[in-house]
Amino acid sequence: MSKPKILVTRRWPEEVEAELAQRYDATFNESDIPLSVAQLKEALTHYDAVLPTVTDSINAEVLSAAPLRCRILGNFGVGYNHIDIPAAKARGLTVTNTPDVLTDCTADIAMLLLLSVARRGGEGERQLRAGAWSGWRPTHLLGTKVTGKTLGLIGFGRIAQAMAHKARHGFDMDIIFYNRSQPPRDKIDAVQARQCASLEEVLQQADFVALHCPGSPENHHLINAERLALMKPGAYLINTARGNVVDSAALIAALQQGAIKGAGLDVYEGEPDLHPGFLELENAVLLPHLGSASRETRIAMGRRVLTNIDAFFAGQTPGDKVC
Ligand code: DGY
Repeated sequence: MSKPKILVTRRWPEEVEAELAQRYDATFNESDIPLSVAQLKEALTHYDAVLPTVTDSINAEVLSAAPLRCRILGNFGVGYNHIDIPAAKARGLTVTNTPDVLTDCTADIAMLLLLSVARRGGEGERQLRAGAWSGWRPTHLLGTKVTGKTLGLIGFGRIAQAMAHKARHGFDMDIIFYNRSQPPRDKIDAVQARQCASLEEVLQQADFVALHCPGSPENHHLINAERLALMKPGAYLINTARGNVVDSAALIAALQQGAIKGAGLDVYEGEPDLHPGFLELENAVLLPHLGSASRETRIAMGRRVLTNIDAFFAGQTPGDKVC
């Protein structure tokens, strides 16, 4: 029997590409240049499986491909806001993602941003590299102490829980959170967290607000000017979720005016193009979407996709089926 034909839309760690090539009739994107909407649409007519990632917009236009050959979209990543799920469902496609394996590394990046922005790590490094460091002095680049402060989580899924664990047990932080549904009691107790009745309550009380909600249409600009105005003037915003959860212009204004103290960002609206206003801000630490970017994690993500498509082509339900 011939092997299913699969397309991997971006370069993956070489060991996982080798495993894919062994088990499937695999096509790789040697140039690693993101595919256009037209190329993605065409791919759905040529391959049994397409393995996309966050840089591929699998929108209604792509999903209108005909005749449709593709049966599964094995997404490399936990977030799937770049895939029009109702349209995929309507075409009878199975969609999978890669939860769990990137939880710790993404929570690490959230802590890295929190620490960097609070302790002015980015500013300090820029100053030193520019040859502008005149030496130690008692008032040089004074930041904000992290230990013992309150971390407010928006969303309380796996990555939020992992960040809470690091913050609670590593930095003795108090944890509060807002989540639309009721998380299991043992997850809350593990970090001695307090569930708030509203998003606004978290914004008003936290010293650090970390976003961990999906980039779904309902969460578009969840953090807008009005909500930023509720945060304490000394508070910081951390975003490792999705760029569209925050109104960039409103955040830039809040940072410029000192309405909040700083922001640590890994994700942006319209990335990789980001609002130029961010680049002017000393009180923003900006990373290029590095959440899951450790070698171990990216290999594990690739293997997770492999496990999902293996199950699918064996006639089973993939473990990480989204639809
Ligand atoms: C994820 O897994 O969602 C990362 O943000 C990369 O897509």
